[in-house]
Parts: sequence; structure tokens; C-alpha cells
Amino acid sequence: MDYKQFIDQQIDHIKQTVGPEKAINALSGGVDSSTVTVLAHRALGDRLKTVFVDSALMRKDEPQRVVKLFAGMGIPVELVDAREEFLSALAGLTDPEEKRNAVTDTFYSKVFARLVKESGAKFLLHGTILTDIEETVAGIKRQHNILAQLGIDPEQSYGYSVIEPLKTLRKDGVREVAKLLDMPAEITNRIPFPGPALATRIVGEVTSERLDTVREATAIVEEELGDSGAFQYMAVLLSDRATGIRKNKREFGQIIVVRCIESTDARTATVTPLPHDKLNRISERITQIPGVNRCLYDLTPKPPATIEYI
Ligand code: XMP
Repeated sequence: MDYKQFIDQQIDHIKQTVGPEKAINALSGGVDSSTVTVLAHRALGDRLKTVFVDSALMRKDEPQRVVKLFAGMGIPVELVDAREEFLSALAGLTDPEEKRNAVTDTFYSKVFARLVKESGAKFLLHGTILTDIEETVAGIKRQHNILAQLGIDPEQSYGYSVIEPLKTLRKDGVREVAKLLDMPAEITNRIPFPGPALATRIVGEVTSERLDTVREATAIVEEELGDSGAFQYMAVLLSDRATGIRKNKREFGQIIVVRCIESTDARTATVTPLPHDKLNRISERITQIPGVNRCLYDLTPKPPATIEYI
């Protein structure tokens, strides 16, 4: 495919479709939504409103980092603090599907739906890619009909429409487009990170304290494995506890699992055979996090495991 031509066509298509109206999009900092943001900004300039929703589930310093990265590209991004809404929607939930639903519902039906209304935008831009559509059709992923997720019935609420500039591309194609758009390597080479964010990395209830623990562990794992070349790596907080000793006192502490995998499309995965020294160093650092006294390395491929824990 001629990606240069693809970029020109999509910018043109966005311009023609939106006309004199306004458009809005939500940026997560992942390569898909980032690429859509740059394409749409080139097409619409200040008629595009880009929001980054801080759900309390983001990695360390992520909201500020993403906003700054885009400011560096001349693209203003509005940081929306919705931390309380997400935390209260997740309070008391331990079932994986209920937790995922709480995150999706809070994002689409509450926070983003409100932002769309307030913005006066008639067009929503979304980073759906071909694989998302295929997996939705095959029943692997949740549906990607963003209007339905926003609680908007396209027949009744005439005037709203969704533009999906990347829907004919797969991930490798999106990365090519991102590179041609001169986006920083920090975005184009970013490892996959799930939509429900750190909520998928906590077994059991998601609370502010437990998020702080897994966020710290995630920062350590990303720092230590950033040059590993692995497909994806992560830290997960379990709901079990284990006895340990710290400063000569027994404590019933928390357990962090580290996962590092090789994959091409996330449908299957094998475990990266990390050097023992590296694993030791990660374990030493992770067990310095207050309350954490065990660090485990997960040896399970996919299948039978999935990549995430919920
Ligand atoms: P699993 O855990 O199903 O994950 O083996 C496969 C890949 O998909 C990512 N993942 C998600 N991505 N929303 C996303 O955008 C989600 O709900 C979600 N769940 C899993 C996961 O990180 C892995 O790369």
C-alpha cells in the first residue's frame, strides 16, 4: 500500500466529511488513537477537540506525558479528570467481566458521552482498525459500535456520525502511517496496553491504594524490560497474600506477578526466557514497594493462559 497516498486521502476525507462542523476524539496515547489525532488535526486544526480522560487507571505520569508529547507536536489535548467516577464505578467489584463493563460504561456512557454533548461536535473520530472489526464479527472482542456504546441511537439522534480513518489497516500499517506522520518513536513503538488499563492488572477489587501498588510495579517492569524487544510486559497484583519478613517483623504481604511475552498478534504468546539476573533485579525492586513481599514470574504461554489476568 502507498501509505503517503493513504494519509492524503484520509485527511481529505475527514475535511470533506466534517465540512464546517466540529469533531471530537478521545486519545489514549496508544498508536491507533494517536494516529487518528494527528490525521484529524491536520485536516481540521482547531475544529478538532481531543480529550485525554484520566480514569485513575493509567500508568505512572501517563496523562501528563501524553498531553506534553502532543503539545510538542502542536496539538492541544484537554486532560479530563474523571478519576473519582471510575473509582466509584469499580468500588466493590471483583468479577473480571463486571470490572471491564464498569470501565467501558463509565468511559462511554458517562464521561465521553458528556464531553461529546458539551463540545457541540457532530463527528466523532475513532481509532478502530481492521483487526478490531474482524474480532468483533468473530465474537472475540466487544462490539466496536461507538455510537451504541455512547448510548446514541444513530436513527434518533440524526447528526452524529463516526469517522474511522484506520479501519482498513492492521497494526503494522498504522505504525507505518504513524512513522510517515513523524510521530515520536515513543508512540510508534509503544507496547500494547489494554483499554481498561491497570484494571486488567489487578485481580480482585480496584482501589486507589491497590492501583498505586500496581502502578509502581508496572513502572519498574517497563523500565527494566524497555530494551528487551519483547511484545508485551507487565506487572499484575494478585488478591492472595503471603507471609514475609521485613525489618525482622512478619507481615502478611501482597504478591506481584511479572509477565513478559513474545507474540506477533496477541492471539498466541510464548514466555520470554529472561536472564536470571534480570529477574532477580526486578524482584528486588518490586519487593521494595510498601506492602509487597513476593514477586513471581509467570511461565504460562497463551493458550492456555490469556495475556492479561482479568
Ligand atoms: P488477552 O488477555 O485476551 O489479551 O490474551 C490479548 C491482547 O489484547 C489486550 N487486551 C485488551 N485490549 N481492551 C484492549 O484494548 C481490552 O479490554 C483488552 N483485553 C486484553 C492485551 O493487553 C493483549 O495485548
